[in-house]
Amino acid sequence: MPAVFADLDTGVDDAMALMYLLASAEVDLVGIASTAGNVSAHQVCRNNRALLELCGRPEIPVSLGSEQPLSIPLRTAEDTHGPAGLGYAELADPTAAPTAHDAAQAWIRAARAHPGELVGLVTGPMTNLALALRADPELPQLLRRLVIMGGSFDYRGNTSPVTEWNIHVDPEAAAEVFAAFGERAEHTGELPLVCGLNITESIVLTPQILARLAAAAGTEAATMSPDDDLGTRSAAGNPLIRVLEDAMRFYFEFHHRQGEGYLAHLHDPFAAAVALDPALVTARPATIDVELHGTLTRGMTVADIAGHWGREPNAAIVVGGAPQATRPLAEVFFDRFIERVGVFLRRLS
Ligand code: BDR
Ligand code: CA
Repeated sequence: MPAVFADLDTGVDDAMALMYLLASAEVDLVGIASTAGNVSAHQVCRNNRALLELCGRPEIPVSLGSEQPLSIPLRTAEDTHGPAGLGYAELADPTAAPTAHDAAQAWIRAARAHPGELVGLVTGPMTNLALALRADPELPQLLRRLVIMGGSFDYRGNTSPVTEWNIHVDPEAAAEVFAAFGERAEHTGELPLVCGLNITESIVLTPQILARLAAAAGTEAATMSPDDDLGTRSAAGNPLIRVLEDAMRFYFEFHHRQGEGYLAHLHDPFAAAVALDPALVTARPATIDVELHGTLTRGMTVADIAGHWGREPNAAIVVGGAPQATRPLAEVFFDRFIERVGVFLRRLS
């Protein structure tokens, strides 16, 4: 059973990624880092603990991360994820406390407890992973796999014309992480798999797909549409579907305001699925670096595919579905997501 450590900035889609991990029987979720990003680190930490309690897993340790990026002030995204990070959903205060050690230490402890076995997943800014790498430079050799949701490759940004949110919030941290994985002399494991907007924006959740999830969870599905009053609350019988519908409605409304349609990109749950099963995708080795000085391009992920820099690849960029796949990647992903999370939520109700 793979040991998984998840670093989240929960966040509507991070919450769904967490549920996917919890719903996956093959996973031993050994810990969670709470990273500042979509909302403050304290709020992320509260959201993670509240979600775990709702899902019946309060024993999973949750650690609080740095309140600030490495060298710039924190920028948050309440416009995208709601005032507390979970859209319109309101969760009861968690009872479990965070760990006494911080999120960077949690990374190190998890990797040291499972040398060569740990699968790391980052769906937020890389602040705490960068701090962990500063404290323990052997981390790249200790991890079995690292999957990152971040960046944008041959594709536009979602925060500036060229930057993706997770990298934009802490570009220095992302640069340090990618650099650390380029210096893995004795590393024989996999290259970090990077799920950028180029792939995650193809994972489009619609109200119809959300309704399939509710049905799989054994609850009557809400019919959500852009004609509804803003902030209409879910009446679902299943409390977790209620949370998901209330969270997701805010996310749908955000994407709609942006002119993208009444839908939502499921960046983080997709990265979680890749972390558990890299055979789901095709990835291309590359040397990734982060632009830190450009006046228009700071935070941009630059990928050298052709070897111009003469540097070893430090990552593999996810570029599509499995080579032999006969169905679109999003379809394969959503079938798997609904099957797992639907059964899980049905059991919890
Ligand atoms: C990323 O930004 C966040 O708002 C989402 O949770 C996701 O991790 C997409 O750019
Ligand atoms: Ca996120």
